[in-house]
Amino acid sequence: MSEQRVPEVPDPPTIRAAIGLGCRAPSVHNTQPWRWVFDGTRLHLLRDTDRQLTAADPRARQAVISCGAALHHVRTAFASHGWRTDTVRLPDPPRPDLLATLEFQPWPNPPMGVFRRAEAISRRYTDRLPLAEPVGWGSVRLALDDLVSPHEVTLDVLDEDARARLSVASEQSDALRHYDMDYQGELRWWAGHPGTPEGVPPSALVSESERSRVGVARKFPTPGPSARRGDLHDHARLVVLTSTDETPSTWLHTGEALSAVLLECTASGMSSCALTHITELSAGRRLLSSLIAHPGIPQVVIRIGTAPDDQQPPPTPRRPLVDILTVQ
Ligand SMILES: Cc1cc2nc3c(=O)[nH]c(=O)nc-3n(C[C@H](O)[C@H](O)[C@H](O)COP(=O)(O)O)c2cc1C
Repeated sequence: MSEQRVPEVPDPPTIRAAIGLGCRAPSVHNTQPWRWVFDGTRLHLLRDTDRQLTAADPRARQAVISCGAALHHVRTAFASHGWRTDTVRLPDPPRPDLLATLEFQPWPNPPMGVFRRAEAISRRYTDRLPLAEPVGWGSVRLALDDLVSPHEVTLDVLDEDARARLSVASEQSDALRHYDMDYQGELRWWAGHPGTPEGVPPSALVSESERSRVGVARKFPTPGPSARRGDLHDHARLVVLTSTDETPSTWLHTGEALSAVLLECTASGMSSCALTHITELSAGRRLLSSLIAHPGIPQVVIRIGTAPDDQQPPPTPRRPLVDILTVQ
């Protein structure tokens, strides 16, 4: 009689700790559009379709990218607890909301980079203020190329003279949406409210004068006048993640690559901000495509720089674990 292998799985406290840490992942407008189900053996990642931004993200592209970021965060957290997660993406085509299924293997010696990036999870945040040039960029840039390549995403660093053109595209995207009541309503719903477990709180937002010194940022509701980093104009590197096609699988991989980039930058002492308002409109995508030297579909722009001070806002809120994790 052949012996059946009993799969080894992490204990419930480890599962809760890893998912709790992983859900510090960034998401569009902090919508946190994910759910996790542990069935006793495997862990499933589902997209919470009720949390889609129907005006800004009608195809759920950014929702899936956000779930990809959470997937990478969670896998990094499990790896740092000694668990490898073998992942099947989009395992059941008739169920497109089921984005990934993970199986566990003990992993006593994960690569050192895993611990650096896991430790960076709780320190990472979106910095919307102007940033200084990233210190030590040369070596970090090489590491980022290695981190995104398994996800079949390319990482391009734009020339400094691309910034002016991107600023124009950014302003145009704001102007085009100025009278789009659905887009504006969605933005006001998700941004600028204190004391909720989701959305972008006022403490994470910037004033009009601070945003004008960044030039390429999405226009959120402004929390009132302030002039932090008053003498600084943004010198962040502008990086673009570009995919080969437009499928949920590609978007999921893009989110994983985004997470890897943000965590590696945090681990290297850099600050960052993901930007997608330019890739939400076809004119912005065309401009970005013209700025990179190869074919592909620009998905996310990332500002990467050095914060010249410790003006880090309080951590953005997250939904309680009971709302996003089901243990069967
Ligand atoms: C797919 C995606 C798109 C995003 N787009 C923008 C954006 O256009 N502008 C911006 O300021 N932040 C953007 N963000 C950052 C989120 O608003 C941020 O992750 C969220 O509010 C949680 O805050 P935290 O990153 O500080 O934890 C984006 C994040 C993701 C994952």
